[in-house]
Amino acid sequence: MCKGTCIVAKIDVYEGRKHRHMKANGERVVSRLNEIYQCGKKEDGTYTRMAFSAEDVKGRKLFASWAEALGMTTRVDEGGNLIARMEGQDSSLPAILMGSHLDTVPDGGKYDGVLGCVGGLEVCETFKKEGYVPKHPVEVIVFTDEEGFRFGKGLTGSSAICGQDAGISDSELDIYGEERGRVMQSYGITSEGVKNAAKDPASVHCFVELHVEQGARLYRTNTSVGVVSSIAGVNRYDVTVTGEANHAGSTAMADRKDALVAAAGFINKIPEVTTEHGNEFTVATVGTIKVTPHSVNVIPGTCTFSLEIRDTDAQIMSLVEQKLQETLGDICEKYGVSYTFVPTSFHDPAPMSDWVKENIEQAVKELGIDYSIIPSGAFHDSLIMTSVFPTAMIFVPSEKGISHSRYEYTKDEDIENGCNVLLQTILNVDKM
Ligand code: GLV
Ligand code: MN
Ligand code: MN
Repeated sequence: MCKGTCIVAKIDVYEGRKHRHMKANGERVVSRLNEIYQCGKKEDGTYTRMAFSAEDVKGRKLFASWAEALGMTTRVDEGGNLIARMEGQDSSLPAILMGSHLDTVPDGGKYDGVLGCVGGLEVCETFKKEGYVPKHPVEVIVFTDEEGFRFGKGLTGSSAICGQDAGISDSELDIYGEERGRVMQSYGITSEGVKNAAKDPASVHCFVELHVEQGARLYRTNTSVGVVSSIAGVNRYDVTVTGEANHAGSTAMADRKDALVAAAGFINKIPEVTTEHGNEFTVATVGTIKVTPHSVNVIPGTCTFSLEIRDTDAQIMSLVEQKLQETLGDICEKYGVSYTFVPTSFHDPAPMSDWVKENIEQAVKELGIDYSIIPSGAFHDSLIMTSVFPTAMIFVPSEKGISHSRYEYTKDEDIENGCNVLLQTILNVDKM
């Protein structure tokens, strides 16, 4: 059995009487992860490639230059997805898709998303260097705005490719107050155009996404690879508590209708309610919060915050939503304030495709790498892709389970193992 330190997975391919050993070049992958990371470097010392930003564009150009150097064609579809394509022996066959995203959360890490893009490219580079031509065409996709922190909703590119309405409009504002229409136009796409980016399901054989786990299951059990069983659903809401703005010096405590105090009372209850009505995977988070009028000497009149609920079971998600809403109602009543609870996006939990998952499992076994089958708490473009195309995911460990952070780290040998599993999986599905 090969634990963490195994970097010698060799892939045997028999073509007639020819016998090849194929192996991903882990050093090249790690060096590319570092190069893309630099594309997110900001003056304040953080590394952020916000979707549609100059840093995002820089990272994509670098990625496209690597793909083109391999002789792959590159194009950007109407959803802004960058697609690098290598022809196979038969261009009329449906394509095998790999990929992920290059955009990051604020002050994000080096691996989230980037590994799936660079890993996909590594598979193509290995084929090219070995003179191996797969039967099917192979595409590596850099999806648009997976993270979604800029406009509060992500998975934009994968939704477009799946022909799903990502619920975007030109007039919505980003965190800086810029209109989506203008932001996307400067990126070369429009919200109308995004609706035309659907890929014909018949043109796709399957989609395989390599990603870091972003949780600690693999790390804690010292397991080299995760075969993903399903991806947790994610429902988001905008909650606004409305009280009464009033003078902070002359309004007695008993006379206040402080929107923030009520909101804080609710937020404080979230862990208890979620644990009571959810299961071990259920999570609920308030990630953004705003008060008005936002002045040191004024009692907050309104408090608006995001709420997100995730689980691998849709019924539990609705139960937790219902219980949280009841709790919010009770607390608002106690403080004499009102509230609105507005759903902003819904994604049901999604199982991965059995046959693609089986091909990954077979690949891991062929390479002699230890693995386990695990669910994903984080969402990925695969959450959307699986609704239209046969889709599955490969995870490699995140040290201490840290991700969405500059401290995100995955060992080089785990990166190489992940790329070899991806390579072997693509060879396996190509035979089908
Ligand atoms: C995306 O990485 C998410 O799970 O929020
Ligand atoms: Mn990601
Ligand atoms: Mn992420």
